[in-house]
Amino acid sequence: MNTQNTSLTEYTVWDRSVRIFHWVNVVSILCLIAIGVAILNAKALGVSTDGKVLLKTWHVYFGYIFVINLAWRLVWAFIGSEFARWKNILPLGSDYKKQMGHFLAARKENRPAYFLGHNPLARIMVLFLFLLLTTQAVTGLVLAGTDVYMPPFGSAMAEWVSEDKTRADEIKPYSKVNVNEASYKEMRAFRKPFISTHETVFYVLLLAIILHVLGVVYAELKEGNGIVSAMFTGKKVFPEKPMDLD
Ligand code: HEM
Repeated sequence: MNTQNTSLTEYTVWDRSVRIFHWVNVVSILCLIAIGVAILNAKALGVSTDGKVLLKTWHVYFGYIFVINLAWRLVWAFIGSEFARWKNILPLGSDYKKQMGHFLAARKENRPAYFLGHNPLARIMVLFLFLLLTTQAVTGLVLAGTDVYMPPFGSAMAEWVSEDKTRADEIKPYSKVNVNEASYKEMRAFRKPFISTHETVFYVLLLAIILHVLGVVYAELKEGNGIVSAMFTGKKVFPEKPMDLD
């Protein structure tokens, strides 16, 4: 931790959109994880069929919040403020190489390296997290259709498995009424790679979240720029000009 008695200057880094995205993302993911764990263990927990449908339906409601929030963040990376943009998020470009060199040299000499945006290691983590979250969003939206016939693909899935296509809207989760057995099997085979990806990415994401939190704590102890409070206030503090500031 930087314990020197130096004067600190405050710089604005995260705009309001980034901060709102971050906390909506945290809360929606915690809810998705909690309900996801219950879905995974439904049998062991003795959850009834109606209970499973309810769990999946609520998982999908939180999923919609998560997807809309994520989609907005991906757009904001094109139009948002300086440090919300791709060029300051992705681990790419000549600036990035320079910053990584500076960062590694500082770590080697056990001195702090000051960055207003993400440090070079955090940028790799952010890219990894966005990839995992986007995969969960896409696979989740498909599963919302195949499992509980909810939008955006629920109607198409119901039509696929229905015996009488004109009554596809009567198809209910876990019910065999108006369901063609062969088409249902086809649909479940189509669903397989989506559910296995959704489940695998869930475990990888748990690990990535733990690494992300440990990284934040480590950076805060090493540099002491107030990076946790910065996700509330948008501001970090520095004893000298951060190297990624023009
Ligand atoms: C970070 C985001 C997410 C996490 C951590 C997560 C986690 C999980 C977990 C652990 C399961 C149980 C898997 C299994 O039963 O094998 C699950 C199932 C499911 N998820 Fe997600 N999920 C996320 C996002 C979404 C989204 C965005 C949607 C849709 C809008 C969604 C829709 C579903 C559905 C429909 C199921 C039930 C599949 C089934 O087991 O039959 N998920 N999710």
